[in-house]
Amino acid sequence: MKKTTTLKLEDLNFEDHGIIYKKEIFDKSILDGLENDILLLTNKRNLIELSDYIVELDRNDKKSLLELNKFISKHPVISLIGVTLMNDTKNLAPNTFPVYLGGSILLGLPNDKRLIYSWHQESNYMPGFKKLYNSWTPLFKNSEIDNGTMSVIIGSHKYGKLDYNKISSSNGYTQLENDVSDFNLKESEFWCCIPLGDQVIFDQNLIHRSNNNKSNNVRFSITSRIGYSDVLTSVDGFKEKY
Ligand SMILES: [Fe+2]
Repeated sequence: MKKTTTLKLEDLNFEDHGIIYKKEIFDKSILDGLENDILLLTNKRNLIELSDYIVELDRNDKKSLLELNKFISKHPVISLIGVTLMNDTKNLAPNTFPVYLGGSILLGLPNDKRLIYSWHQESNYMPGFKKLYNSWTPLFKNSEIDNGTMSVIIGSHKYGKLDYNKISSSNGYTQLENDVSDFNLKESEFWCCIPLGDQVIFDQNLIHRSNNNKSNNVRFSITSRIGYSDVLTSVDGFKEKY
C-alpha cells in the first residue's frame, strides 16, 4: 500500500488541509523518561517484552489491561502535551476559553481489527465547542503504514460536522462512523507517517481513522484534546448527546 496523495507532512496547513505537522515537540529525554517509567511499572526490560505483555493481557485479562492503560495515561507527560496543544492552537480560537479534554496513551494492538476506529470526526464525539483540536503523537517508535498509522481525508474539515452512523459493539464501545462514499479516497487519503517525537494537530471536523497494525508489536501513541468555548458547556457525559 502506498500514500494516496503527493502531499508531504511539511506542506500541511489548517486552512487547506485541516491538519498541521510539528517537528520535534519533545526533547528525546522526555520520551525516554516516559518509556523507562512504563517499563519500570510493568517490570519489563524492553519494548518487545512490554508489547508481548500487553498482547497477553488483551487475550487473558482485559480488565487489567484497561487499568494499566488508564494508569499510564495519567503520566504528567500527557498533560504536558495538553499545554503545548493549547499554545499551538489558542490563536485559532480568539475570545474563547480553552478546555483541556484530556489525553491518553493509545495501544494499537497487532492485527486486531476490533480496536480500529472507522472514519470519524472528533466533533461528533465531543460536541458543543466552537473549536476543538486533537493532537496525535507517536510514542517509542515511528508511526508507519505497516504498523497501522492514522490516515485522514485531507480537506474534509471544510464540510463541517457531518451525519454519522452510530455503531455499538458488545465491548461497550460506540463508534460514530461517517459515510465517506462522496470522497475520492484515492486522491484525498493522507497517511500520517510521523517520526518519533513529532506530532500532528488536526481540526475537529477532519475525518480520520486508525488502521490495521500489520507489525508484530503494539503501536503506542498519545492523543490529547483541547476544546474552545465562549460559554459554559459540557466537559464530560458526551455519550448522552449522541
Ligand atoms: Fe479520533
